[in-house]
Amino acid sequence: MDVQKLMKQRKSARHYLDKSVSRADIEDLIRCAGSAPSAINLQPWEYVVTYGQEKDRLIRRLKKVHAMKNVSCGPGTSTPLPEKISNRSRGALTVMKPQIEKLNIPFNQFVEDGSCSFYGAPVAIIVLMDKIFPKLRYLDVGLSVSYLFLAAEAKGLSTCPIGLITEYGDDIKDVLNIPQEKEVLLAIALGYADETAPENDFRTDREPLNEILTWYE
Ligand SMILES: Cc1cc2nc3c(=O)[nH]c(=O)nc-3n(C[C@H](O)[C@H](O)[C@H](O)COP(=O)(O)O)c2cc1C
Repeated sequence: MDVQKLMKQRKSARHYLDKSVSRADIEDLIRCAGSAPSAINLQPWEYVVTYGQEKDRLIRRLKKVHAMKNVSCGPGTSTPLPEKISNRSRGALTVMKPQIEKLNIPFNQFVEDGSCSFYGAPVAIIVLMDKIFPKLRYLDVGLSVSYLFLAAEAKGLSTCPIGLITEYGDDIKDVLNIPQEKEVLLAIALGYADETAPENDFRTDREPLNEILTWYE
């Protein structure tokens, strides 16, 4: 399928059908993720796939630790963002909030509970990188994750990147027996989106080209 079409089509899904994803499909996605380019071919990414009872065990722990620490979604910056940038986030909230209001759940609760439970997706993927690598290698892992997202889209699968729970990286490592020298960079909800759900019925905006592109001629 046309890659540009897949890129335009992809969006985060926050409600999933009760339909399992085959192991062969998951392996295909991870193979695609592993085919991404990386600096001197270091391939610093690692993926842990969890579903069924193990995923439920992880969710129980995440909900418990979240109830104690209550980390909320934010830009993660120490100084306030310039208006122009924070407006991007505000724009996303403007399209998302009216849909969540239809569910009669407070917005923050929807995002926090949803993130801690992978929005009900049948599969949760944990993205790791060994701490031996410098932070620049996050870039390589990001490329790999993008490959995974597009490969999922090509199979009719949906994803949601979940950064909120990386605050609970030690708990995730404890539940899944992940060695201490690994860093949890991201979680990914994976499954078949419920296209009829209000929480999937919006699309976030993007800046026009002139805002992100500079030419020097
Ligand atoms: C690194 C990263 C972390 C994210 N963390 C969360 C999260 O914790 N919870 C959530 O609901 N969405 C999360 N998202 C999804 C973003 O909100 C979403 O990608 C953005 O609003 C753009 O919308 P789209 O993915 O539908 O195009 C995250 C996205 C990225 C790339």
